[in-house]
Parts: sequence; structure tokens; C-alpha cells
Amino acid sequence: MGYKYWTLDDVPWDAFDPSRVDPDHLKLGKAAAMVEFNAADYVSYLENVFREDPVFLAAARAWGVEETQHGEALGRWAMMADPDFDFDARFKRFREGFRPDTEASESIRGSRAGELVARCMVEVGTSSYYGALGDATQEPVFKFICRKIAADELRHYKLFYDHLKRYLDIEGLGTLGRVRVAMGRITETEDDELSYAYYAANMDPDTPYDREACNNAYFRRAFRYYKDPHIDRGLAMVFKACGLKPRSTLFRIAAGGAKWLMVRRQKKIERDLARAA
Ligand SMILES: [Fe+2]
Ligand SMILES: [Fe+2]
Repeated sequence: MGYKYWTLDDVPWDAFDPSRVDPDHLKLGKAAAMVEFNAADYVSYLENVFREDPVFLAAARAWGVEETQHGEALGRWAMMADPDFDFDARFKRFREGFRPDTEASESIRGSRAGELVARCMVEVGTSSYYGALGDATQEPVFKFICRKIAADELRHYKLFYDHLKRYLDIEGLGTLGRVRVAMGRITETEDDELSYAYYAANMDPDTPYDREACNNAYFRRAFRYYKDPHIDRGLAMVFKACGLKPRSTLFRIAAGGAKWLMVRRQKKIERDLARAA
């Protein structure tokens, strides 16, 4: 992974069609640009956690460059779609309000293997998210960018999974331990980072941050594009990282549960919004 698989010059910017920009996609694209462009913080964190592992460190740095490029591509597209969108100013606001802890010397997941399970979960989330958005959008440039990013995220998953296998031999982490980390990381997706990115990227600076409102605003839009195949594919990746068999009864139960949870979450958001209105 020493080079980039694509650059901003590969994006067919001339094909941009403003009439096909979906306002919800624009909001999501702006928020995603914040999180992606902030990758350097996660590289610093991984540099601390894996400090004696030069092979992993080289891979993590190359990974960070690709994630940052995701932010650049999405940010540039958002500025085409909305000339008033000031990426630098918005990103500055995001940084002022949200900083992940990069100082930790040990993984907050308890072990390096645990850290890699958590990294796999992030890439499951992003690959399925951009896959779903890329399928949903009718705007050619956004579609191109989402598809390129989704392919990168899938490759990132494989990268972290390969290192996970190596660390499972060194440290050992059983299926139950892996499931625990995976579930922990998946539920964290509901927490501050995405809500705050949505806020910093989309809301009037004079509006105070309302975590729950931003969380609802974000997930109401984000969940809509997931179809069953996106969920099944993502869950198969989760199972693999945990050392569980995808073609099993447990998988079918988990897939049913995941779909049910998503529908329930969407209904709750609609209820909250109706109550607020
Ligand atoms: Fe990314
Ligand atoms: Fe990624």
C-alpha cells in the first residue's frame, strides 16, 4: 500500500450535474468530509499503540493518506454543489469541538488485536455506507467518488484484517473477546463524532450544538440508503473479523436482528421529530 490507488485528478469533475444533487446527500457528504479529513489524528493514535511495529506503522501512514484524500474529494464535491460551503472554516469548527484522544500509549480496546478488530469495524461501516450512498445517488461525480471510496474502505478492512490475523497469533483474542470489541465499536458509531461532524458541516454557527438533534438528523438521512444486501455484506465482514462463520444460523439471526434494529432506530427518529415539531 505504498501508493494511492486513485487521486483527485481521476475524478471526472466536468461531469458534475448540479440538477442531480440530492440535498440530503450533500449534507451527508459535507459531514463525511470532516471525519475523513481528520484521519491524521487516528494515525497519531495508531503510531502510539503500534510503536514497535514498523510494518504496521508504514501501512497505517499510507492508510491515513488515503482517508485524508476521501475528505478532500468529498469536500471539493460539496463546494461544487454548494459554492457557499467553506470547507476550511467548517473543518476548523469541527476540530475545535471534536478531538479524538491521540495520546493513549495502549489501545483503548485492551490489546492490539482488539484495536485491529475495532479498525475493521470502522471500515465495515464506511465501506457499506459509501457503497449504499454510491448506489443511491444520481449525481455522476458523487457516484464516482463514493464508489472509489467504498473500494478503498474495503481494501482498508482487508489490510487491518491481515494484521489482525498476525496479532491473534501473538496476543490471542478469542471469539467472545472479539465480539465484545466489535459490538462496542459498532455502538460507538452512534456517539459524538458523526453528530458533531454533521453539526459543524451543516448547521448555522450561531445554533448551539444539540447532540441528539444532530444525531437524529444524521442517522435519519444515513440509514435510508441501506438495502438488505448492504447489511448482509457488512455483517459478513463483521462475522469474519470475529472468527464466526457467515453461512450459519447465527448469521441469519444476526442479520434479522440488524435489520430490525435499523428499522426500529428509524422509527424512533421519526417519532422524536414528530414530537419536536
Ligand atoms: Fe475513508
Ligand atoms: Fe478506510
